[in-house]
Amino acid sequence: MDNETIKQTAEAEIKSCGSAQSLEELKVKYLGRKGIVSGLTGSIPALPVQQRGIFGKQVNELKNRLSALFNDRQKELGQASPQEKECLVDISLPGISQDFGRSHPLTLVIGEICDMFKKMGFTVVDGLEIESEYNNFTGLNIPLEHPSREAFDTFYLNIPAGTEGKYLLRSQTSTVQIRAMKSQKPPLAVVAPGRVYRPDAVDASHSFMFNQIEGFMVDKNITFSDLKGVLEFFAKGIFGENIKMRFRPHFFPFTEPSAEVDISCLLCKGGDQEKNCPVCHGKGWLEILGSGMIHPNVFKNVGYDPKKYSGFAFGMGVERIAMLKYGINDIRLFCENDLRFLKQF
Ligand code: DAH
Repeated sequence: MDNETIKQTAEAEIKSCGSAQSLEELKVKYLGRKGIVSGLTGSIPALPVQQRGIFGKQVNELKNRLSALFNDRQKELGQASPQEKECLVDISLPGISQDFGRSHPLTLVIGEICDMFKKMGFTVVDGLEIESEYNNFTGLNIPLEHPSREAFDTFYLNIPAGTEGKYLLRSQTSTVQIRAMKSQKPPLAVVAPGRVYRPDAVDASHSFMFNQIEGFMVDKNITFSDLKGVLEFFAKGIFGENIKMRFRPHFFPFTEPSAEVDISCLLCKGGDQEKNCPVCHGKGWLEILGSGMIHPNVFKNVGYDPKKYSGFAFGMGVERIAMLKYGINDIRLFCENDLRFLKQF
């Protein structure tokens, strides 16, 4: 059958077709994947080269003509074409309700903590997650050979040849001390929330990535009692007026003296030390952060005169604070996107 005969036969068949269903069948017969037109297209490679162009063009014209005829007949039979179907909206149907999003619990806790410090005159600043080895270690009085490097010394980045120094994903937000102090002169009171990275295997209380908030204040005559007052205001604001605090001597390379800070257990209130409290395991106390008076070497590294200025610093893990505050027992819940968990905040 030549193209013209096919066209005429199809036209006659389409015109006499009486239902949407038989029209669809006809369409498959002519325009379907294994239909007549497709067969014509498939025969093109077998033709002599000179004829292929003309024949191909004719087949195309036939195809367009038949498509138009099918569409017209479809309309006559009262059936919407696929394009028209897309435009059909049943405005009587109820709408699809949209759930409102909400802030992630960690965002809420970071906001709450920063607000406490803002009330005391602290400024909130951002640091960078990709840091120089200097800001993460050396500037903070953690020299190359210092043993406390080992636990964090990780996640180095391949940086373009020619860039000076080494870069890594920061292991602590204390890096912001160096950044802020290098760019500003005292007096200065700063809190810096952000993500940090460590080579820790993931379990209920560890993750290779978590959030910290660093804080520090530098001026003339800043003393350890200023640190105590500031941290007490923060801890009572977050955990409740009735908690007790204690400062336990500790070592951090960038502070001297240094202390870890504990609050009385939120469950047994520090009074249930005989029984094995599931939260503090009978200790009566919960560690919440590290702190101390900024080491003179850190001041020297940023160009401050340690004889003229003094200051304190502290650093806390946000996940830990949130877990204690809300009684969450697994750090992994924060990043699993489980709405049953997230909806509770
Ligand atoms: N950077 C410490 C850490 O990641 C936390 C810390 C301890 C920060 C004592 C401080 C500090 O500013 O004084 O474990």
